[in-house]
Amino acid sequence: METHGKLSRRRLLVRSGMVVGGAAVVAGAGLPVAYHLHHREVGPAYAARKQTAKGTLTDAEYIIQCGTLAASPHNTQPWKFSIDGARILVFADRARHLGAADPERRMMLSGVGCAIENMAVAAEALGHRLAVDALHADERFERDGLCATVRLVPGAAGATPLFFPALFERQTTRLPFSGGGGAIEALRQAFARQPLFPGVEVAYAVSAADHAGVDQINLDAVQGFVTDRAQYDAGMEWYRITRAEWEQAGDGIAIFTSDAPWFIKTAVELFVTPDDLDGPDFIQGEIDHVARVSAATPLWGLIYGTQPTNTTRLLAGRVLERFYLEATRLGFALHPLNYAVERPAEAARLRTRFGLKATDEPLVLFRAGRAAERLGNSVRRPLQTVIL
Ligand SMILES: Cc1cc2nc3c(=O)[nH]c(=O)nc-3n(C[C@H](O)[C@H](O)[C@H](O)COP(=O)(O)O)c2cc1C
Repeated sequence: METHGKLSRRRLLVRSGMVVGGAAVVAGAGLPVAYHLHHREVGPAYAARKQTAKGTLTDAEYIIQCGTLAASPHNTQPWKFSIDGARILVFADRARHLGAADPERRMMLSGVGCAIENMAVAAEALGHRLAVDALHADERFERDGLCATVRLVPGAAGATPLFFPALFERQTTRLPFSGGGGAIEALRQAFARQPLFPGVEVAYAVSAADHAGVDQINLDAVQGFVTDRAQYDAGMEWYRITRAEWEQAGDGIAIFTSDAPWFIKTAVELFVTPDDLDGPDFIQGEIDHVARVSAATPLWGLIYGTQPTNTTRLLAGRVLERFYLEATRLGFALHPLNYAVERPAEAARLRTRFGLKATDEPLVLFRAGRAAERLGNSVRRPLQTVIL
């Protein structure tokens, strides 16, 4: 009986066009009440984001915790760490994968790189330098996931830790962006000043034709992705329907960090069932979302590798995270949109569009600009679950 009541209310919402996709906007999106603003982000899932000082943790523990605040594909947090004196071993947790949505685990490796970048920033804030003694991802990723050995060099910090406050503010902003007048060119120049790593390069879409071209590539990529059952279902494994489920898991993605209006968030929380996730409303919602945000993008960048190695994929993550932090620090927002990168036909079109060589490997397509609001924050797992 209960189920019936729930289903019919849900169907009603679906029919009236209210339950749409993972991140949809429908008429009324401008309503002033933002659901996420009413949610106090309390509890263990948000604790790391609020801990802006070391407290009772050791330096290594705190640096790792700051690492866990990094971006990762679908918030899989595919990392684990082992502390050995002043050394920290950084592993990919290969069980935390995106299946067919990340068949070569490139995004997983970039996620681990994002965590290492945050660790370098946190180490500096504690007065250390994070020396990367070895990158092992090419020999060890398949075997035991070991990606890097890093070491805290006390008292060896370089510049003022400019990026540290941004660790706690950074978020993936899935909203339409504006260019902020001429400011977007200043952001691109700020990105260009960030250090790169051997084998990692960045290209930008410049002309209006390039922007239109990227829009079309994204649209084709998301349409291909959602109709590829293996890819779509693998992504949805990490989708959490209710906030309670999401906070309990401490990982994955949910509608609460999307640009959907509060009543859609509420409707999803109350009425959506796991079966709906691969239904037409969610699928169309995701296509609409990609079309909408893609079209409202003043700056497109493509982080790519000049050699197809695991180490390059990991280092691309360091660059991505640094760009997130730099954008945050300067009051901009950033959003990777990687459907095209993981669809071979569209990845080839990205190469052409961004002027890459046939041997270059697109790794992260991202959009940046000014956002009109701040979204809710994503959840994290507790520190003890990631330290071996
Ligand atoms: C390699 C990589 C690829 C990503 N691709 C996408 C994407 O295609 N679409 C998207 O909305 N977010 C993407 N993200 C962002 C993650 O979903 C996000 O980092 C994660 O959910 C945690 O949220 P936060 O960044 O707000 O902390 C990507 C992140 C990484 C590291």
